[in-house]
Amino acid sequence: MGTGQKVTFGLYILSALSVILGINVEFQQPEYEVARDDPVTMRCIFQTKKPNSPTVIISWTADADDPTEPQITIGTFYHPGNQIDITSEYEGRVTMTNDVAARISSLSFSRVTMQDNRVFQCAVKIPGDNDGQPADTARLLVLVAPSVPVCNVQGAAEYGHNINLTCKSAEGSPPPTYKWERFDTRNIPQPFPPRTTESNGVLSLFNVSRETSGYYKCTSTNKIRSVSYNMTLSVMPPSMNIGSTAGIIGGCAAGLLVLLIVVYCCCCRKKKNAPDHEMGDAVEFHDKPPLETENESDGIRYGESREDTINQRTGYLLEDRSDRFDTDGRQGGQTQIIMTHRSGRQGIAIYDNRDSI
Ligand SMILES: *[C@@H]1O[C@H](CO)[C@@H](O)[C@H](O)[C@H]1NC(C)=O
Ligand SMILES: *[C@@H]1O[C@H](CO)[C@@H](O)[C@H](O)[C@H]1NC(C)=O
Ligand SMILES: *[C@@H]1O[C@H](CO)[C@@H](O)[C@H](O)[C@H]1NC(C)=O
Repeated sequence: MGTGQKVTFGLYILSALSVILGINVEFQQPEYEVARDDPVTMRCIFQTKKPNSPTVIISWTADADDPTEPQITIGTFYHPGNQIDITSEYEGRVTMTNDVAARISSLSFSRVTMQDNRVFQCAVKIPGDNDGQPADTARLLVLVAPSVPVCNVQGAAEYGHNINLTCKSAEGSPPPTYKWERFDTRNIPQPFPPRTTESNGVLSLFNVSRETSGYYKCTSTNKIRSVSYNMTLSVMPPSMNIGSTAGIIGGCAAGLLVLLIVVYCCCCRKKKNAPDHEMGDAVEFHDKPPLETENESDGIRYGESREDTINQRTGYLLEDRSDRFDTDGRQGGQTQIIMTHRSGRQGIAIYDNRDSI
């Protein structure tokens, strides 16, 4: 027996029973699924032991957002007279059609919004027939694909800390579920570090270390679609004083793998022999001479310094966005190297020149 047959069979039984039990109101479907902005029609069918009743009142209501609030009235139909009252809020957007002889009432939305994602009730009042089921409910499920999740790092991404990677889609109906995965540089899935927990899109990483660094992917899924976001986590030694950029090594942007590397170092252009060891563990993608553009020159260098190069070995395009001078012209500021890999991955290396003076 198909569902349709079952429903028909059920209605047949109920209609037979209604002769004894009285009124019975039933939705054609217990749930209606509709994409946001699409139209939908919900139908309820009623049986009555007073089929020739001169008076029939059919009302459509919906559950309020807050269950303690009274129901929202949508429309009421009065027979005879065929008067239909639609609540002003719904006027123009819904139509109610009623056929007393066929014992059907329908409510049509021309275009559903997330506001219509609720439980609706159809109630029928017939004088002299008040025993039975005078009302029934149906859920209107408005479907919205999940939006690209927004991912963040909570806590300082420094050795020994506990951090959370959060992932949340701004919209999605039914509410999306989230799943984190980890990959190495060759896109091979990796297990999470020990003691990692995941709950509602929050991946909690315990006692993070250099090994915790890597690619993390969050996928937001509901019954319509899945959307992923990739982020790169770089965990730094705790000694590094890199300010506000420290914790958040990953960001979000649609379809983009964003790699943000913060490097702390003394690569002042005047000190080519500056102690490289300070970069040490911190640098993840530093297998390149970071400052190809180092030249002795004073004065305005900003524009001239952009000697973008492609490092043959790593495939990174190095783009110098340095701002080596304070507004007052003194040496200082920041050295910023934008690294763009052939694959489209990007990274930013920021050196605070002042720190090395
Ligand atoms: C990470 O999430 C857990 C559980 O939600 C919370 O107890 C903890 O304080 C969070 N940690 C950070 C660093 O935000
Ligand atoms: C954190 O990890 C380090 C090694 O990476 C280990 O020496 C230390 O004992 C760990 N701390 C805790 C609280 O597990
Ligand atoms: C995210 O990473 C996975 C595996 O590393 C890859 O298959 C996928 O194409 C990436 N997605 C985006 C949007 O970069």
